[in-house]
Amino acid sequence: MGNQRAATGPQSSIGTWYPSTDSIRVPLFEAIEDVANSWVVLRDSSGELSASRGGNIEFSPVEVTPSAARPSDNEGFPIICWLPQCRPSSLGSRDFLRDHGVRNCYVAGSMANGIASVEFVSALAREGCLSFYGSAGQSPAVVSAAVQRLKETVPGRPWGCNLIHSPAEPTSEDEISRMLVREQVSCVEASAYLDVTAPLVRLRIQGLSEDGSGRPFARIRVMAKASRLEVARRFLSAPPEALVTQLLNSGEISSQQAQWARRLPLCDDLTAEADSGGHTDNRPMATLVPAFGRLRDEIARDLAATRYVKIGAAGGLGTPDSIASAFALGADYVLIGSVHQACIESGSSDPVRQMLAETGPADVIMAPASDMFELGVHLQVLRRGTLFGPRAKRLLELYRNHRSIDEIPASEKQRLEKDIFRMSLDDVWQLTQQFFIEREPAQIEKAVDDPHHQMALIFRWYLGKSSDWANSGDPERQLDYQVWCGPAMGAFNEWTKGTWLADPAARCVGDISRALMHGAALSTRRESLRRQGVSVALDPSPRRIAASCSTLLGTTT
Ligand SMILES: Cc1cc2nc3c(=O)[nH]c(=O)nc-3n(C[C@H](O)[C@H](O)[C@H](O)COP(=O)(O)O)c2cc1C
Repeated sequence: MGNQRAATGPQSSIGTWYPSTDSIRVPLFEAIEDVANSWVVLRDSSGELSASRGGNIEFSPVEVTPSAARPSDNEGFPIICWLPQCRPSSLGSRDFLRDHGVRNCYVAGSMANGIASVEFVSALAREGCLSFYGSAGQSPAVVSAAVQRLKETVPGRPWGCNLIHSPAEPTSEDEISRMLVREQVSCVEASAYLDVTAPLVRLRIQGLSEDGSGRPFARIRVMAKASRLEVARRFLSAPPEALVTQLLNSGEISSQQAQWARRLPLCDDLTAEADSGGHTDNRPMATLVPAFGRLRDEIARDLAATRYVKIGAAGGLGTPDSIASAFALGADYVLIGSVHQACIESGSSDPVRQMLAETGPADVIMAPASDMFELGVHLQVLRRGTLFGPRAKRLLELYRNHRSIDEIPASEKQRLEKDIFRMSLDDVWQLTQQFFIEREPAQIEKAVDDPHHQMALIFRWYLGKSSDWANSGDPERQLDYQVWCGPAMGAFNEWTKGTWLADPAARCVGDISRALMHGAALSTRRESLRRQGVSVALDPSPRRIAASCSTLLGTTT
């Protein structure tokens, strides 16, 4: 980390530092790595920068003269600037640490189909970090079993579960929301909502209680995720009165709970999702995070409790510098996704982990989403090493251009059966029916009357299976893997190039979260120096970080 370079030319100093018997003075780069302590930065008579703690300080600005004309070190050292401490836990909101009982403002977002697996969530819970089980795409029974396992494996630790808006499978959303309340899961990540639904509002209100002094508080905290201001506004506001009344009339909430609900926003934390893996509007974080903060403050003028909502940043975070920049934008916490899929604890497969390790920042593409296929919603996936993106786009094009499977020209149908489905479309329809009869029979009933809907279900079979093939590492289907992934993955690979973290088998989520947050603390200190005119070439590479905080990392190689 050496290569420190002070800004050239005479500078004014803050004052003068005098050594004492118990003071210490070390080279500047050593002080930067000691993120837990604050230091004063000095320039000695030879022009070298150093840093000190202890000693005596006289605050009287003096001009720092060229070294030749400078008094000797015995007469004290000019203080060039101040290097404040910045631990990983100093980044973000202290209230967030308290509210969630976590060590760092570092959150692992949900990853569907159990990619954010029980093992993954447990590993982060042991680190003292909040993460969410990836319930999307799974049946309520599977999600319930995962919640039970988490309760047994990491009791009392921070963890939560995803509640995803599922317009194509409303029963599933309803059942999972009821189960999360029944099991008193302490935190829920609510995502993919464009509008507010009854299962979401019911969970929010049933999760309200009162503290010792009669004030309402959320026993089940809701962390919402949004990429648009209009959606953010809904979460920052009280739940719609029509839904509150409906729940009250049906006896699902008490009148006391209804009153509390009218005084509180729908969420406790709100993540601004920028250019992420999975569902994304590809918005720039630099505009989204401050805009969400301003909106919160505006809504808090009418709904006072909204001012306590924490704003998180997600999308594109895969390096210490990017995480430091999210905190500099005012984020109360950061939320990571793509990089976590590559971890050994994730529910993904080794072939996918290998593909992710070879990914560059531009190796991603937008492709139609299975859960909102008919709406034309897209999500961000891996492009390198798979044909899923172009194939899924082709299916959406056919769906838009034809009203039924029968309308598709015979030659095109043959191509689909040979290249994409690898079986007849009749066989796909049989499999599709088997799936939905158990999961959501209304879908089949609708398809019988509506051939366009039948076509959507058949095409969605491919979109659903393609992520199963990826998660199971099916060698026959590698070219069809659907791997949700954003540019953060490639940035992470560039950051870890040539270090032990480049090896897919070594990517433990605990090491990664600590390295990213420790690196972000170093990066923040570097910027703090730069703002005061001291430019330091600091490279927070994983190797450098491991060397400087071996107690923090599982490995120091
Ligand atoms: C493999 C994968 C699966 C995801 N599945 C979900 C999901 O089921 N629910 C959800 O709210 N977000 C999901 N996301 C989004 C993440 O929770 C997180 O918001 C996002 O990945 C952050 O951006 P990043 O990918 O740039 O780190 C997924 C992301 C990835 C990479």
